Amino acid sequence: MTNPTATPNERPLAYRAAPHWAAVLAGVLTLPLLYVGGSVTTYRVGMAVPDWPRTFGENMFTYNFWDAPFGVQLEHSHRLYGSAVGVATIALCVAFFAFDKRKWAKSLAVAALAIVIIQGLLGGYRVRLNSTMVAALHGCLAQVFFALTVALATFTGRDWLSDAKPTPDAKGVRGLAVVTLLLVAAQIGLGAVLRHFSGRHAAYTHAVLGVAILGVAAHLFVKAKRHDPPKPSLRSAARWVEVLAGLQILLGVVAFVMLWPFDGMPRPVTTAQAAFRTLHQTNGAVLLAASVVATLRAFRHFGPAAKPGSITSPSTSPTDLEAVA
Ligand code: HEM
Ligand code: HEM
Repeated sequence: MTNPTATPNERPLAYRAAPHWAAVLAGVLTLPLLYVGGSVTTYRVGMAVPDWPRTFGENMFTYNFWDAPFGVQLEHSHRLYGSAVGVATIALCVAFFAFDKRKWAKSLAVAALAIVIIQGLLGGYRVRLNSTMVAALHGCLAQVFFALTVALATFTGRDWLSDAKPTPDAKGVRGLAVVTLLLVAAQIGLGAVLRHFSGRHAAYTHAVLGVAILGVAAHLFVKAKRHDPPKPSLRSAARWVEVLAGLQILLGVVAFVMLWPFDGMPRPVTTAQAAFRTLHQTNGAVLLAASVVATLRAFRHFGPAAKPGSITSPSTSPTDLEAVA
């Protein structure tokens, strides 16, 4: 509900379907792309197509890959899919420029476009330079891109644009949400090291950190759940973080057993192995995105004590930034 006594600078923005659904579409399209890209890594077919931007010297959009070997089909379809996500991100930018008044939101949409372009370049240079380091960076940036599309969907969603009436953060929910987010981000970086370079120490550290993340996520959920007055959207985001962290650990244990003894030796990959390992990588992205949503909602719904006479957004809220824009 909108606060009728709010001044124009404090009034929440109206919900706009176009930027919201453009962000949702970009995120929904990106998620399977993470799985397809992850499969390229799992099956170790990153160099199946040795050139870029052409494919075996042909235009990548007209190259006929239907009769090609599995590795070529997988890697090439990943490129095509990446291009489709690039187009969806251009549409997202157009929707933000046409319908979202907030300058910072437009800047984030441009950042998403920049990231998707860099992502394509990293993918290409992973092949041209035959670089595992670039492959690992490409894997991490993919997760950041997905999280950004989800953040954009959050910023344009009804929960964000509603009159949030932030209350003082007496239980330190915001701090805990930030800690959860940072731990998950670090864990994804460590996971990329493990996946691309192997190594037992990285595996042990990654496993221990995974359990720590589950503990922190459970703590966050309990705090968000017990908060009075209730913050339902934050509570549901925190619940998702906890559930996804639990699922991630289960998938991680299976991947751990499959990859033991982490000596980096290439071995044949069965379909089940590929599915579990790649699901672990993709679910990592979903967990990152859920942590981003929980953190954003924590800052939206909690703030420092409100000034006397004001029942409006905290100074940290981007709706305020919009008012200045
Ligand atoms: C929106 C664009 C893209 C996204 C989101 C994306 C995402 C991903 C992801 C998640 C992986 C798995 C990384 C991992 O498991 O650590 C991957 C692998 C890969 N991607 Fe992309 N990708 C994109 C575009 C491209 C493009 C345009 C190319 C062009 C060549 C490309 C080439 C590759 C290659 C070669 C690998 C395998 C790397 C390896 O050997 O491990 N990607 N991609
Ligand atoms: C919340 C906790 C966790 C998160 C967020 C997480 C995230 C990730 C991600 C994103 C990757 C792939 C990185 C990339 O390709 O770019 C990865 C790889 C891996 N993780 Fe985790 N992980 C978690 C917990 C665990 C646990 C508890 C274990 C084992 C007990 C584990 C075992 C592994 C293994 C073995 C790999 C390499 C998989 C492969 O090469 O296919 N993870 N992790």
